[in-house]
Amino acid sequence: MAIHIDERAGLFHLQGKDVSYVMQVVDGYPVHLYWGKKLRADGNLQDMPGLPKHRNLDQMPQEYPQYGSGDFRSPAYQVQLEDGSRITELVYQGYRIIPGKPRLEGLPATYAEADDEAETLEITLADAYSGLRVALLYTVFKDSNAIARSARLINSGSGRLKLLRALSMSVDMDIPDYEAVYLAGAWGREAHLQRRPIGPGGTRIESRRGMSGHQLNPFLALAEPGADEDRGEVYGFSFVYSGNFLAQAEVDSMRKVRVQVGINPFDFCWLLMPGESFQTPETVMVYSDNGLGGMSRTYHKLYRTRLCRGVYRDQVRPILVNNWEATYFQFTAGKLVSIAKAGAELGIELFVLDDGWFGKRNDDTTSLGDWVVNRDKLPDGLEGLAERINRLGLKFGIWVEPEMVSPDSDLYRAHPDWCLHVEGRRRTLARTQLVLDMSRPDVREHIYGMLSAIFRSVPVAYVKWDMNRSLTEIGSAAAPPERQGEIAHRHMLGVYELMERLTGEFPHILFESCSSGGGRFDPGMLYYMPQTWTSDNTDAVERLKIQYGTSLVYPASAIGAHVSAVPNHQVGRVTPLKMRGDVAMSGNFGYELDLTKFTDEEKEEVKRQVALYKSIRPIVQQGELYRLLSPFEGNETAWMFVTEDRSEALLFYFKVLAEPHMPKKRLRLKGLDPQRDYAVEGFGTFGGDRLMHAGLAFQVPPGDHFSLVVRLRDAAGGKG
Ligand code: DGJ
Repeated sequence: MAIHIDERAGLFHLQGKDVSYVMQVVDGYPVHLYWGKKLRADGNLQDMPGLPKHRNLDQMPQEYPQYGSGDFRSPAYQVQLEDGSRITELVYQGYRIIPGKPRLEGLPATYAEADDEAETLEITLADAYSGLRVALLYTVFKDSNAIARSARLINSGSGRLKLLRALSMSVDMDIPDYEAVYLAGAWGREAHLQRRPIGPGGTRIESRRGMSGHQLNPFLALAEPGADEDRGEVYGFSFVYSGNFLAQAEVDSMRKVRVQVGINPFDFCWLLMPGESFQTPETVMVYSDNGLGGMSRTYHKLYRTRLCRGVYRDQVRPILVNNWEATYFQFTAGKLVSIAKAGAELGIELFVLDDGWFGKRNDDTTSLGDWVVNRDKLPDGLEGLAERINRLGLKFGIWVEPEMVSPDSDLYRAHPDWCLHVEGRRRTLARTQLVLDMSRPDVREHIYGMLSAIFRSVPVAYVKWDMNRSLTEIGSAAAPPERQGEIAHRHMLGVYELMERLTGEFPHILFESCSSGGGRFDPGMLYYMPQTWTSDNTDAVERLKIQYGTSLVYPASAIGAHVSAVPNHQVGRVTPLKMRGDVAMSGNFGYELDLTKFTDEEKEEVKRQVALYKSIRPIVQQGELYRLLSPFEGNETAWMFVTEDRSEALLFYFKVLAEPHMPKKRLRLKGLDPQRDYAVEGFGTFGGDRLMHAGLAFQVPPGDHFSLVVRLRDAAGGKG
């Protein structure tokens, strides 16, 4: 890793592990020349092919383009001056190199643990007339093919500036025939993989919901036509933010592609007073010439080790049982303890008390905001329950939804102006609840007080932090009229501040984020909480797609996956316990059903599942993922986890519907060491080369919903 600068030529060459990113200052503008496979750094970068023939702005490949002076493509930023004008011109001022990676104040971001892990280039641009300055930040990592980009907009003039648009990054490339790959879905159908040519015009992936959302993940990749899991060029853009976002690819008449990512300019404006600055969230850009699989592995490693934080970052995660699908709101302390007791007998390590333990919450119409235990349900309080659970040998975890308030709550009755709202307008309910105005410090302080009191007095080892609705009527009673356009982002910053405070003060607690399942499965959340509840849809067949899609960006350690009852509560499907277990074991494993209802035979099977997961979880949670067969392409799914030293691996294979008269299945494995021999459990010992090229053969028995987990170990016991 290094940043090479040729000051005379105005050339900047960023080198990561196997990646180069090259820019040049041309006519005062930072121009994009190259992003791809690593180039040498010995001065062969003159007259790069990226340089345009005509030096008009509309054809110049730029790094942070402006609006209004001849570039008719989408700008990276737009600022309104006090005189009402919206034209600015950013001209190169200088640069500095910062060892490591500076923190982005108040925002989630990837980080470096030591200064020699990463290097950051800051390029400064300025508009002489308005006093607007922009610092473009680029971080390269020594051991990664990721580059993190963000921008800081500074008002160094004497007038007020109104930011109408402030994206995190913009890049112009020559890849008009590439395909957009992204994740789309809905509640219960998250992260379905999409792929289509970008073509002339625009591809917009965005959220206007005040949260990242189930509908579109804050991620976009551009893949070379024909690029698959293993081959071909892919450019990934992942936005480290949980609110309104925009990720777009625009193909212009000159067949250039402009890719931009940032806070959605829709309904955004921000008043920047003299002396103030605005830091955008960051976009993590990954280059892979090993297809989508290579891109995913880069994101997984970076996000698992340099985005996630806390004591659980490097620890295996406990196997949990959650009572939601077992009881919903109707439970007694005795019922919960009986589930925990059954869990203890099966080897489960953590009991999670879900929604319904506080206020008068017997359904979803009431009590959010009243974080006081319901003594009718839990006469000995949370303390009493936690103590009983702990005595069984299980840790105790609890559900909260801190960002919300029910109109039927003491909190709302006392502070009706504490929710997001616009005076005189309807307050739109969703799931009978409103969103607390987290842009207000008094609201954050109150919620912090209630939650921290619980975390201090009850032996809480795990928190499921839920968030069950999108934002509407985004306005704050505490902000002046000219700042109302800031509330969506200020709310998000407030949520982050609350999370930072609570996760920082209670480092021993494992936090899992949730938003009606995967409504906020984004890198912003992973910075505070190292795992996310992937979907409310727990059906094993549906989960194949949801988990496969989610794995495009996010590591298995982040992917919460539970075995639930059949018929499945979301889709009514009946699948075997084995398949439900094998699917859930491909992520962060747990159970979400009434364990007391298992037959003796099922109990034995669950004991085996729990024991197996305990022995394989370091490989699943910390290994490298290789996707073999896609559920989006057919009836079969397969993936592998391989330890970094390639001494151990796991193969997961699933076949949803049986087919008659089928030959043996031959599956070519991936990620192994061709030079080593592997003991393949249940099969024998084979060379890594043979397993990858000739494959592993097995007969799929008759019957729907077949699944197989195979463990591979270096036959010589070597650790590489
Ligand atoms: C939505 C979550 O995704 C579920 O797992 C559950 O916690 C419910 N909320 C509780 O209301």
